[in-house]
Amino acid sequence: RKRVVVLISGRGSNMQALIAATMDPAFPGQIVGVIANRPDAPGLDTARRHDITAIAVDQKAYENREAHEAAVLDVLAGLDPDIVCLAGYMRLLSATFVLRYSGRLINIHPSLLPLFPGLETHERALAAGMRIHGCTVHFVTERMDEGPIIAQAAIAVEAGDTAETLSGRLLAAEHRLYPHALRLVLDGTVRMTNGRAILERRAPAAEAP
Ligand code: GAR
Repeated sequence: RKRVVVLISGRGSNMQALIAATMDPAFPGQIVGVIANRPDAPGLDTARRHDITAIAVDQKAYENREAHEAAVLDVLAGLDPDIVCLAGYMRLLSATFVLRYSGRLINIHPSLLPLFPGLETHERALAAGMRIHGCTVHFVTERMDEGPIIAQAAIAVEAGDTAETLSGRLLAAEHRLYPHALRLVLDGTVRMTNGRAILERRAPAAEAP
C-alpha cells in the first residue's frame, strides 16, 4: 500500500476521515504519519490514539518561515511518503516544498474552487447569495488554491443558513470527499500532467455474452 502523510494545524477531522478510510485493508494507501505545525493541534492526539506517528514541528520554535518549512521537509523525508495530504494545514508552502512533492501533494478547500479561494469561504458564499456551496480536493501548486481539481462535492444552501450551519454540513461532505479523492490519486485514476489534472477514462465494463 502507498504511504500517505497528513499535515494538519488543528482539529483534524478530515485527517480522521482519512484514517477511517485507510483502516480498510482494501484501501490503496495507509497513513504512516501526521505532522502539525502547532504542538497543541488536537488532531495529533487523535492520530496517536490510532497508533499513527504524530509529530509536531512547532512553528514558534523556528526563526522564520523557511527554517520551519525546512524542518517539516526533513520530518516528511523521514516518513518517505508517496502522497502528502494537507487537511486544514493553515500555512502557505513555498515553491521549493510544492515542487518537491509536485503531483503528490493534495489539499482540501472548503469551497467550489475557483470560487472563494482563501479564508472565510462560507461567509463569502452566503454573501454572494450562492444556492449551492461545496468543497474541492486539488493538487497543490505554487499559486494558493489554484491547483488542478481532483474532485468536488456540492451541498445546497438552505434558507436561514449561517456560516456555522453551512460549514457544519459542508464538513460532513468534506469527510466523504477527501477519502474518495485520495483513492483516485493513489490508484492512478487522476494524475497531474503539465499542470492539469487528467482523469483517466475507465476501461469499459466487459459486455455480457
Ligand atoms: C476544513 O474545513 C478544511 O476544508 C479547511 O479547514 C478545515 C479543517 O478542519 N481548510 C482550509 O480552509 C484550507 N485553506 P479539520 O482540521 O477538522 O479537518
